[in-house]
Amino acid sequence: MSNSEKLRIGVVGLGRYVEIAHMPTYFDSKYADFIEVAALCDVDENRLAEWCKKYNIPASYTDYKKMIAEEKLDALVVVTPDHLHTQITCDALDAGLDVLVEKPLATSIAECDKIIKSAKKNKRMVITDFHKREDPAHQEARYRITEEKRYGQVQFGYVWMQDTINIPAPGFFKSNFAEKSSPIWFLGVHFFDLIRFITNLQPIQLRATGYKQVLARMGINTFDTIKSDVIFDNGASISFYLSWNLPEGAPSFTTQGLYLQFENGDLKIDSRDRGVYELSKAGYKTINPMYTRHTPRGMAGYAHESIGEALAIFLQLKQSERKDYEKIQNQLRSDYDGFYSTLMAQASHASLERGKQSADGTVFLGEIIDLNEYIKEQLSDSADDYIVESSL
Ligand SMILES: NC(=O)c1ccc[n+]([C@@H]2O[C@H](COP(=O)([O-])OP(=O)(O)OC[C@H]3O[C@@H](n4cnc5c(N)ncnc54)[C@H](O)[C@@H]3O)[C@@H](O)[C@H]2O)c1
Repeated sequence: MSNSEKLRIGVVGLGRYVEIAHMPTYFDSKYADFIEVAALCDVDENRLAEWCKKYNIPASYTDYKKMIAEEKLDALVVVTPDHLHTQITCDALDAGLDVLVEKPLATSIAECDKIIKSAKKNKRMVITDFHKREDPAHQEARYRITEEKRYGQVQFGYVWMQDTINIPAPGFFKSNFAEKSSPIWFLGVHFFDLIRFITNLQPIQLRATGYKQVLARMGINTFDTIKSDVIFDNGASISFYLSWNLPEGAPSFTTQGLYLQFENGDLKIDSRDRGVYELSKAGYKTINPMYTRHTPRGMAGYAHESIGEALAIFLQLKQSERKDYEKIQNQLRSDYDGFYSTLMAQASHASLERGKQSADGTVFLGEIIDLNEYIKEQLSDSADDYIVESSL
């Protein structure tokens, strides 16, 4: 493929996740053939120089606006800390670029609404990198639940996603943004989106319970653990168990999975224990090759496929000279997915803030939040675009 036929991208934010998932996708995966990384941007000049040298990338910027103005990009990839996604994304959409944004799309539904409006106005696409949609186990679950309708209605269930404590601890994130995040923002958004993806259900009510004990004692003011109990539009009750205080000796960085019970059956997916075990000097560990793995054709796995498939959609738009915009916009990935995941995350924190606290401020019993009322409260003008219909 010649350079003019490739998708020309710029990447903003060169931290941990770019290293683990993005660069291997752009340079060493089945997607590498159609991706041209034209420029990188980070406010940290040392990191910028290091990555440009390592991957032989010709242009580097500390100001993303300058990069967008000078580089004639087709698309921008935003991998900055969560609270810095919105302005960068809107500026890129206004400049006529499609945008792939790391999860969460933004840290408030008002900001998601701003991004969605900007994408519509500019006829550009914004995709949130919810990689769990590309996990083969989840894709098969979606087919069995929503297309084959094998088990009937979802009645209740739970999901769990827990990280080891070194992830929020100082030194893991390049920009140390743990205090601005939480288990809900860092982990919950994945599974909030995944449940919508595999069931087609929409959230209508939630209540959270939270604990600030271990990390607070280490001087990091954020929650160790949050449980969010969400009611969906058919009445299904699904609890999200989220934490980032597992001891470092855990068999893997991330413990995760889901269980759903239906009218006529149940479904369980353990996304940590994929049946691959290793004993090495680091101890006894599980490996998740579905997430990322080395193959003779480079890196594969849902971490890479999520990024590569999103960029393939942008390439399709470029190749069709955007004639297919409406059709493609309504395919697998929509701007709205980022909105509803952020809704559940933001409302979980609102529940904790509005509820009761223990006298020592370590235990939070949240208030019930009606999500349609919350949408109306947060978005007076455009609430109708997002209200969920339900007979409950
Ligand atoms: N999909 C996933 O599974 C997954 C996993 C990890 C992180 N993430 C997401 O990726 C994003 C980045 O996370 P991370 O762990 O790489 O964070 P990080 O702190 O390691 O890296 C962030 C980088 O952004 C840079 N930056 C900050 N402000 C900037 C600006 N204005 N312009 C340019 N660069 C700027 C920082 O210097 C840093 O290099 C977050 O939104 C996070 O939630 C997603």
